[in-house]
Amino acid sequence: MSYAMRSLVEDDNRYLKSFQLFRECSSEHQCMQDFIHVILPDILASIGEGKANLNVMGVGSGAGEVDLEMFSELRLKHLAVTVDNQVVEPSAQQLDLYKVLVSQKPNLDYIKFTWNKMTATEFEKDWREKNYTKKMDFIHMIQMLYYVKDPCATVSFYQSLLDKKGKLLIILVSSESGWGKHWKTFKTQLCNTESSHTVTTGDIKTYLDSKTVSYQSYELPSQIDITECFTDGDQRGELLLDFLTEVLNFSSTAPAELKARALELLRHPDCSKEVEGRVRFNNTLGVLVIDPLQ
Ligand SMILES: C[S@@+](CC[C@H](N)C(=O)[O-])C[C@H]1O[C@@H](n2cnc3c(N)ncnc32)[C@H](O)[C@@H]1O
Repeated sequence: MSYAMRSLVEDDNRYLKSFQLFRECSSEHQCMQDFIHVILPDILASIGEGKANLNVMGVGSGAGEVDLEMFSELRLKHLAVTVDNQVVEPSAQQLDLYKVLVSQKPNLDYIKFTWNKMTATEFEKDWREKNYTKKMDFIHMIQMLYYVKDPCATVSFYQSLLDKKGKLLIILVSSESGWGKHWKTFKTQLCNTESSHTVTTGDIKTYLDSKTVSYQSYELPSQIDITECFTDGDQRGELLLDFLTEVLNFSSTAPAELKARALELLRHPDCSKEVEGRVRFNNTLGVLVIDPLQ
């Protein structure tokens, strides 16, 4: 990455704004909703072995909307349970939003929230130092593994926390998405920093297969309308471009030649489809549901 370019994740505020805009412009929210309400319920039904209290953990939970959506399905499958929910999230701003959401939602008394303002790696270190032996029934990492230094080692540690019938849910972009192709081309020039990596479910599957770990996988087709990125000076387009490249103020800090090539690839048929004058970037997500260590 050029010295003038900084990673978007270094600016909590702009990251949050660009992530919210990305969610607004993409069908990701809808495809996650479909997954949570159609496929996830059976997965949730299989956890817990009839226990009265379930241990759940969200790693990189953000503002908690997706977590609470999943809890609504968990509750339907385990009517009388109580839940201990560990939230692992390094952003104070996101944690505050999550706490506000919890305070506004009725009927969450069955969940005890423990807030851990930490990265996944800090939490792992803390857990190891304290020699905790508690086992988890359900752990989820949704759109988070991009931000850890060693995604496979992180998967391996959190899998080791699963109870016998537990599940580790991972959602990332699929290697079939435009992201996979974009990253392959610009891996060294753009978002490959200490705190941000180009990992897809394809990479995690390769790792799991090499360790003969058992898992189920699903693909969730989704798109992002990136049309505004191609209008010079368009503020929303520039904010979205930051999210797509993971570079802070990409439009003003990227060398002209790199910017031109990145924009060209973003609208290339390998990454996007043009439909009725709109450019729709392939944002297909991959879901992995990992079983405990045998
Ligand atoms: C793309 S957001 C996804 C949020 C949420 N899971 C969702 O799907 O709505 C990524 C989240 O991971 C968090 N994050 C960033 N680095 C992290 C790390 N090293 N460990 C854990 N979470 C991290 C960010 O603060 C952010 O809330």
